[in-house]
Amino acid sequence: MKQVQNRRIVPLTAEFLRSLVAPYAHCLVDVGTGDGRFVYREAAAHPETFCIGIDPVAEAMREISAKVAKKAARGGLPNALYLMDAAESLPGELAGIADRVTVNYPWGSLLRAVTIPDSQVVARLAALGKPGAAIEILLNASVFEDAEYCGRLGVVPVDPARAERELAPAFSLAGIELVGTEEIEGPAEHRTSWGQRLVRGSARRTLRLSGRIGSLAGV
Ligand SMILES: C[S@@+](CC[C@H](N)C(=O)[O-])C[C@H]1O[C@@H](n2cnc3c(N)ncnc32)[C@H](O)[C@@H]1O
Repeated sequence: MKQVQNRRIVPLTAEFLRSLVAPYAHCLVDVGTGDGRFVYREAAAHPETFCIGIDPVAEAMREISAKVAKKAARGGLPNALYLMDAAESLPGELAGIADRVTVNYPWGSLLRAVTIPDSQVVARLAALGKPGAAIEILLNASVFEDAEYCGRLGVVPVDPARAERELAPAFSLAGIELVGTEEIEGPAEHRTSWGQRLVRGSARRTLRLSGRIGSLAGV
């Protein structure tokens, strides 16, 4: 697995990763983290939680990786880590590490995987969590209003009814029990760069899928 550390991409061994996480009571893994600011805020607000942001685009995490590497007085954080990887390759060294998994406003193959849903990728997300871990997926629901656009992207629109009818059984087989589906107008309570962009723009609707990772999760 590769870490984005102080603007550089360096290898990270499973042993070193475990030694970083071990002193902390909780672990958050954010998949498709983008610029990593959500992870930064969570790590700053919850010093008892080790927070890991993952994205295949290392460039987007460069700035924040330099910020967390600074001294504490200048914004550095010992409990935030950024990894370069795609959901399709998870969990790797992160198997069973998380108490909480988040996927905020995914696009591309990650959005397709969640909305179709692709049970193999959903199982990979599930495999990040400890049994009973929480998983929360925030989707930009405004995208689903344009059927032609969704068709071009290969995304299948989701609303609460389809989530319960089609996503819940598929997620369940992949190791995630969906426990809530909610449409949110305006900002979701946890702030991500894309969430804030949506709230400022015309696209304001978020669909939140909340779930629990089951004890059978594994890839
Ligand atoms: C709209 S951005 C959201 C970024 C961030 N979560 C936020 O809310 O500000 C979508 C992110 O999903 C990532 N992504 C797309 N496909 C992915 C995949 N297969 N695995 C992991 N991340 C993926 C992109 O690189 C991008 O950073």
